[in-house]
Amino acid sequence: MKTEFISQNEINLSTLTHAGEILRCGGLVVFPTETVYGLGANALDSTAAEKIYAAKGRPSDNPLIVHIASPDDAEKYAHIGEEYKRLSKAFMPGPLTVIMPKRNCIPSTVTGGLDSVGIRCPENKIARDLIKAAGVPIAAPSANISGKPSPTSAEHVKVDLDGKVDAIIDGGECTFGLESTIVKIENGKITLLRPGAITLDMLNALFDNVEVADAVTNKLSEDARPLSPGMKYRHYAPSAPLYLLNGSDEKRIAYCSAAGEDTLLLVFDEEAELFSGHSIITIGKRGDEKSQAKRLFAALREADATNCKKILAPMPRKSGIALALYNRMIRAAAHNIIDL
Ligand code: TXA
Ligand code: MG
Repeated sequence: MKTEFISQNEINLSTLTHAGEILRCGGLVVFPTETVYGLGANALDSTAAEKIYAAKGRPSDNPLIVHIASPDDAEKYAHIGEEYKRLSKAFMPGPLTVIMPKRNCIPSTVTGGLDSVGIRCPENKIARDLIKAAGVPIAAPSANISGKPSPTSAEHVKVDLDGKVDAIIDGGECTFGLESTIVKIENGKITLLRPGAITLDMLNALFDNVEVADAVTNKLSEDARPLSPGMKYRHYAPSAPLYLLNGSDEKRIAYCSAAGEDTLLLVFDEEAELFSGHSIITIGKRGDEKSQAKRLFAALREADATNCKKILAPMPRKSGIALALYNRMIRAAAHNIIDL
């Protein structure tokens, strides 16, 4: 199919109305959010949702998140309770997805056969204007081919999905760069399934019973059934093996300096000059985890475009926003850590 491309300076009421029409009629539209780009379809239309799985090459048991234009719309699609109200008041619109029991209007194709549904009201204005224009909730996973890093620019989306979707809306670079925080609410219990810009500390400030799913930091055993089906799939992994270096900056820099020619080094911006003669990719400012979050997926894509045999990167901390980085990087590294 021919993919329509709506560039940043073409975004206006008329082009968004047109994209909304495509969605309402069962087509696929890629749109920007503050986290990563989403591959959208009408969440009330099972045939449209099936097209998402086909375009991404996504296993059909991996559920899609439903995007809404206003936090109050959640009750049309899910059975909400006090906990959702508290979360939405504090963090929505924003980078948070809340999993709750689904209502019947959401087809089971969208939820990968589960009887729960993830609801997210993005902060990005283009995303919300598009959902309003569509007049229906939008099911959208990240707009990458399954297994690849999520796209944080329209260029990444084009590489993966040109010719496989009806339209791509270019909203520039995503402000956060890692996917939304996912929490599940079940019988009053709150479980963090995926860390993101809404941190565990922020959730703990609202509730005194937040649990963290094992798969957030630990390797799942082969036969484990994770709370979030997406956690069992290979994700973010570059084709060369990635190793996380666990130790002080001094030790890491010394270790990287001794690396061979076919090793690619992921280093902080201010360290670039230390590694002339080595092949490097910068991954944001040292100590500034927001800038690292914004860079990570682009850096992993750039790493894949080299023909290195091995990749070395610093191991992130596990606190605050860094937990989101840790969660993505430890999976990209298939839990390979080198203790320095
Ligand atoms: O920031 C984001 O969340 C982006 C943007 C586009 O909104 N979307 C995104 O979607 O990252 P996706 O499909 O790439 O990741 C959603 C994750 C998957 O791992 C899926 O398994 C999990 O959420 N998930 C969705 N619905 C679920 C449910 N009902 N129960 C458990 N896990 C669920
Ligand atoms: Mg994804």
